[in-house]
Amino acid sequence: MQDHGRTHCPNIRITFLRTCLSYIAMAIVFSICPGMHAAPPDFQSATSQASVKYDKSFRTFRLDGGNVSYVFGINERGELQTVYWGRRLLADDVLPPVHALPGHPFGMTTTPQEYSGWGGGLYTEPALKVTFADGNRDLVLHYVSYSIDKNSLAVVLRDIRRDLFVTLHYTVDQQTGIIGRSALIENRTTSPVTIEQAAAASWNLPHGNSYSLRYLAGRWGGETTLESRAIQPGSTVLESRRGVTGHQNNPWFAIAQDSSVAEESGNVWFGALAWSGDWRITVEQDIMQRVHVTGGFNPFDFAFPLAPGARLETPVFYGGFSSEGFGSASRLLHIFELTEILPHAPNPPLRKVLYNSWEATDMNVNEANQEALAEKAASIGVERFVMDDGWFGQRGIKPRAGLGDWYVNPEKFPHGLKPLIDKVHSLGMDFGLWVEPEMVNLKSDLYLTHPDWVISFPDRPRTLARDQLVLNLARPEVRDYVFGVVDKLLSENDISFIKWDYNRNWSEPGWPEQALDAQKTIYVQYIHNYYSILDELRRKHPNVEFETCSGGGGRVDLGVLHRVDQTWTSDNTDPFDRLTIQDGFSHAYTPGVMMAWVTDSPNWYNGRSTSLSYRFLSAMQGSLGIGNNLNKWSLEDFATAKSMIATYKTIRSIVQRGSLYRLISPQNGSNFSATEYANRDQDAAVFFFFMHSEQERYPAPRLYLRGLNPSEKYKLRAISGKASSDTPEIASGAYWMGHGLDLILHGDYDAASFELERQR
Ligand code: GLA
Repeated sequence: MQDHGRTHCPNIRITFLRTCLSYIAMAIVFSICPGMHAAPPDFQSATSQASVKYDKSFRTFRLDGGNVSYVFGINERGELQTVYWGRRLLADDVLPPVHALPGHPFGMTTTPQEYSGWGGGLYTEPALKVTFADGNRDLVLHYVSYSIDKNSLAVVLRDIRRDLFVTLHYTVDQQTGIIGRSALIENRTTSPVTIEQAAAASWNLPHGNSYSLRYLAGRWGGETTLESRAIQPGSTVLESRRGVTGHQNNPWFAIAQDSSVAEESGNVWFGALAWSGDWRITVEQDIMQRVHVTGGFNPFDFAFPLAPGARLETPVFYGGFSSEGFGSASRLLHIFELTEILPHAPNPPLRKVLYNSWEATDMNVNEANQEALAEKAASIGVERFVMDDGWFGQRGIKPRAGLGDWYVNPEKFPHGLKPLIDKVHSLGMDFGLWVEPEMVNLKSDLYLTHPDWVISFPDRPRTLARDQLVLNLARPEVRDYVFGVVDKLLSENDISFIKWDYNRNWSEPGWPEQALDAQKTIYVQYIHNYYSILDELRRKHPNVEFETCSGGGGRVDLGVLHRVDQTWTSDNTDPFDRLTIQDGFSHAYTPGVMMAWVTDSPNWYNGRSTSLSYRFLSAMQGSLGIGNNLNKWSLEDFATAKSMIATYKTIRSIVQRGSLYRLISPQNGSNFSATEYANRDQDAAVFFFFMHSEQERYPAPRLYLRGLNPSEKYKLRAISGKASSDTPEIASGAYWMGHGLDLILHGDYDAASFELERQR
């Protein structure tokens, strides 16, 4: 336990004066050079330490990190009450003790609690709802104790009458100020307790009535569509009831303070839930116009019994704040993912340029056609060859067969995978393989032997999707089987990469072998086992990389990103549609994990025709892959691809690790789209510009770059396309950001890309 005494009041005036002076100074700088900063703004406080403190006299906890402070206190009733979440305060700023808000007969409490039990007349969304063995469902959580360990804090709460304990865990990230929150629920009574609703956290915003919410919605082929709506009295529920993260909503939110908030200015609160199963985030405005965001396990069809002594830990809900708009909010998340979440954080390796066979050979893969593609892929500079679906069991040969039987098909690969893998290695590439081990086809040896292994209810039809059923990974023997399948493949073959697919959502989510009252724990146990398989595989095969995929981007969240190296963003590989999908994706996730393939034209998904260079530029905004049928390419296509891939390798560290600036949004039918990626040390930047269709020969809008050092010189170099003839070759960061530049775009689906390099 630590106790950091409170600061004395005389400091307040000096502090206030100092704060005013620094704001005036900042205002002068920004009004002279709008959009310009001597250093990238998001990380200004990167060097200031994170800290977690408890003020004994005021009974408040304070977490500081990056440009953010987060404060909550213990009110006179013993509840944990949010005090402040926003721009970093000075160390000696004093926040007064908290007081519960007055209630009235029709709204007994609207006190913004950190973690509320459903009880005592609570009408806002509870964090925790339980039923005790005697039928009592009233739960009121009060403070018990705390402990601080470096940048983390644990606060213990207990029900006012019973030994139901909740330990709230908080961590604060030094660089970004992103706070991680989760709850450990423990039954220390002598009878069972059933948890019916368990959030990781509630986030409470300052009082205000002009907030708006941004969130990601979508479907297969149309993932991560950015949506927004005003926050008004009532709730917006973002969720998955599909057993997996899902395409329909992604567990991310951002809230703008008011309508003045823009891409690069204004207060934004944001969060992302690290969970790959059923989840729910409720954004609600209560009767007193207070906004609360509560997220965790989805309470729909949820029941988790806790025997005496048992515990349940929730996923982590991360939350952050930026006073520099939506762009800065995403950049904070990106750096946080790269340095804290990904398996090799803080230095995850750059993504290799891969080739994937799916769009070229579908399920009709064989040794000869894969080797032919591999030769062509190697000739253009591809570094990793991935054979997709179709190599195993009777997949693609007999209808509705294959999934579950993970032996190499002897007709397609008479000598096993070794000859192909050796060939791929001899061409200088590493080898990757597609699997979908959580699924089973009805016509498989596995299903014949273990029809009970699938998620199902007794005596009910088993609804097929894509001709397959979902194995119940919550069962220990199924978990071990799935681990064994992938472990064997990795142990017996020289495989560097696994694309782990998951091509349907749940139906009939039963677990009949489990005791009746524990059957709904499938929603939690399944995901725990999924994570444990990935964790164990990574431990045993530390050099293997993994990609998460679920019919494209249906399984992307901070939980799985802790265990995989990259994501398949969407099966929709049309380069124009991808601009909006990738833009939405980039609000929550770093381009460093966002796989984007160049594929054939016309595109298989929507029939749109685009030039090869347009397709490359669209895909080069993320982590580049090639998915073409290379047998159809002309010599010119090979030359274009070779040159683009060579260029991509020179800029990929900027794209995958730099700061992303969304210069022009493709959303809402915009005719233009532009992104810029600037190295964090401001020595280089690369930018991409896309036009849907030229109209009446109006010129494209001028591009104003960001994230450069105004007083350094940068040299412009074309990757593809032209700038207007009066564009200087070398100019200052101030010029590129202040004056900007005009690019020449022409016709339909035209694109250009340039690089800026600092001159010494
Ligand atoms: C999913 C994936 C595709 C491909 C197919 C194979 O749809 O998203 O990339 O792997 O499965 O069946």
